[in-house]
Amino acid sequence: MTNFRVAVLISGNGSNLQAMIEEFESNELVDICCVISNKREAYGLKRASNANIDSYFIDHNQYDTRQEFEEKIILTLDKHNPDLVVLAGFMRILSNVLVSKYSGKLLNIHPSLLPKYKGLDTHRQVLENNEEFHGVTVHFVDNSLDGGPICAQSRIRVDTKDIKELEAKVHELEHEIYPRIINEIANGELYLANGVVIKK
Ligand code: GRF
Repeated sequence: MTNFRVAVLISGNGSNLQAMIEEFESNELVDICCVISNKREAYGLKRASNANIDSYFIDHNQYDTRQEFEEKIILTLDKHNPDLVVLAGFMRILSNVLVSKYSGKLLNIHPSLLPKYKGLDTHRQVLENNEEFHGVTVHFVDNSLDGGPICAQSRIRVDTKDIKELEAKVHELEHEIYPRIINEIANGELYLANGVVIKK
């Protein structure tokens, strides 16, 4: 059986990428086929090279438009023929070019219980608003900011006022949920049909 190929797009630390590397190294089904970063200094690129994964730096500043930048990403992805493209801290708003090319095969993780707190700075807002719960969402990507059909959420009770502590707890949730959902998709247990998430 051929492996299920996952491409990972990052911009920074890549702790979610690391969680995937660790989960999938002992997993016969899923391969991380490549990592693409729009930031040269992204630590995730180092994580990829330590794990012998093909990695690429594609600088969005080199392109006049979002569309051209994404066309370059697609050319690079095409070399690896991914079954799934996962955004893991990829800090660029996407145009329809990438979203339509990978429709139903493009996944994101967002550090909030969507639809609450789209965009940046979610932990600060959760604390400021004295939310009882916070968490993470894994969702298929559509054309809206942090929108698209939700695959799964994990939540915790907010029991700290310390933003760093809260962020660390949310990261722990992320590192568990993202590889798990990717595994479910690879196994055919979760997929998108007519814009609706189906779980078997
Ligand atoms: C995570 O909080 C993720 O939810 C958000 O960006 C952050 C990336 O962290 N989209 P890392 O680079 O995986 O450590």
